[in-house]
Amino acid sequence: MPTVEFQGETVECETGETLRDVLLDADLSPHNGPTAVSCHGLSTCGTCAVAIEGTVEPSSPGARERARLKFPPHSLESGLRLACQVRVTDDIVVRTGEGFWGQK
Ligand code: FES
Repeated sequence: MPTVEFQGETVECETGETLRDVLLDADLSPHNGPTAVSCHGLSTCGTCAVAIEGTVEPSSPGARERARLKFPPHSLESGLRLACQVRVTDDIVVRTGEGFWGQK
């Protein structure tokens, strides 16, 4: 089972689970603001942006994720990923930045 390290916690999950779901199921959150004001995984709000060390699938953002990451305050150059769009396939370390969108 892959593990996710986040905010001092280590969580095991099933291979292929969506990172956002893994964190929320463990009472953790990639969102700096209330989860209720997010798009709930539709890749439109951008509030689940995180930095990931390790391998996830897809290895680079798909069209939907790229569309949101191109829109400010995000930028594709930041290297952030949307936790709702990546699947955990290996052990990873996840960090979120400051700011409502985790962009800082
Ligand atoms: S939850 Fe809105 S973009 Fe991920």
